[in-house]
Amino acid sequence: MKVLIVGSGGREHAIAWKVAQSKKVDKIYCAPGNAGIAGIAECVDIGAMEFDKLVAFAQEKEIDLTVIGMDDPLVGGVVDEFEKAGLKVFGPRKNAAILEGSKAFSKDLMKKYNIPTAAYETFNSPEEAMKYLETSAYPIVLKADGLALGKGVLICTTKEEAMEGVKSLMLDKQFGSAGNTIVIEEFMTGREVSVLSFVDGNTIKIMTSAQDHKRAKDGDEGLNTGGMGTFSPSPFYTDEVDEFCKKYIYQATVDAMKAEVREFKGIIFFGLMLTENGPKVLEYNARFGDPETQVVLPRMKNDIVEVFEACVDGTLDKIDLEFEDNAAVCVVLASDGYPLSYEKGFPIKGLEKFDGNDSYFVFHAGTKLSDGNIVTNGGRVLGVTAKGQDLKTARNNAYEATGWIEFANKYMRTDIGKAIDEA
Ligand code: AMP
Ligand code: GLY
Repeated sequence: MKVLIVGSGGREHAIAWKVAQSKKVDKIYCAPGNAGIAGIAECVDIGAMEFDKLVAFAQEKEIDLTVIGMDDPLVGGVVDEFEKAGLKVFGPRKNAAILEGSKAFSKDLMKKYNIPTAAYETFNSPEEAMKYLETSAYPIVLKADGLALGKGVLICTTKEEAMEGVKSLMLDKQFGSAGNTIVIEEFMTGREVSVLSFVDGNTIKIMTSAQDHKRAKDGDEGLNTGGMGTFSPSPFYTDEVDEFCKKYIYQATVDAMKAEVREFKGIIFFGLMLTENGPKVLEYNARFGDPETQVVLPRMKNDIVEVFEACVDGTLDKIDLEFEDNAAVCVVLASDGYPLSYEKGFPIKGLEKFDGNDSYFVFHAGTKLSDGNIVTNGGRVLGVTAKGQDLKTARNNAYEATGWIEFANKYMRTDIGKAIDEA
């Protein structure tokens, strides 16, 4: 089979690495990819939002399966374009990717189908939003309705901060039209868990759990980022939590989408908060998480291409997902200054130390080839993942391996997986 992967981050590198192990696959392409992906796939210079070019490329190369990694093309309807051209593609159609593309949609869906989530109100007018904030309890959470690179969520501790937030989202349009509508929701406290799942429209199969670290600095300080590290499994995702989510959240979401005539095929990523009153949905994503994918896929035993095909064909009920009985930790190596401004173009040394290792991996996020050298090319540069028999061993291994890599302005959090010690 020939497989095309769309995207260019650590997530797509982890997907490509897993696809490369499939017995069914002889050739992988990635659009646009990065310097690490180029080691296992042929990278083609087509952007993820260039739908016509992607479809034309897939037709020309007779691609058997295309896997969309990123949220923007999914929400923009890339799957519909591939299907129109008669091409096999993994991911939700536009009318289902709205589960991630509109927070107002997802909140209304949860309310309508009694799926546990924070209480909320939706606003299209800044005046109405500000009026509501006059009498709210604080802290409170403001969310831009649309995609905002994971930055459209503001946690406001005072009324003044919340008023400022409404102004920047709705009036100053900090995230453009993503802020035309906002959701204002109740602030929840608890442990956060990421649960990824495969969905074929009817059946949902849950992958092993993970926990992300969204803030830039140790101790969960600093700005929100795309994610600075992860571990899997989460020790807080107990059998009891799993049972609750299976009963009230996972299948209920798939069934709700079907009832709305928005059949969902692809990945549903459940961002959960384990509150005092039970697990609640923080958010849905319609794609693999990044960096969660970098710890979940290395622990997955299945041939991922068979699972992708089962989702597209509607035969996921025939698949048993299996994960190794171990743990994995990923530490992101970033460019100092991320998520604000940072320099790039620095040579990266030590990558070869990971070659051929099946317990230590380095997934590229922001790298490129320049005059034969691999250089830094983004805020998040690499994800260093290590496995271990348990979480503590995996964490030690991952941090040991971060020392194998050198580049100027290398920055990482030193406390990824600290929560393990509290379990
Ligand atoms: P989201 O993009 O919706 O996952 O939100 C980003 C982050 O904001 C989450 O990972 C949480 O840490 C935080 N967050 C979102 N919604 C809430 C909420 N209702 N209460 C507390 N924290 C929240
Ligand atoms: N790691 C969170 C996300 O992928 O949205």
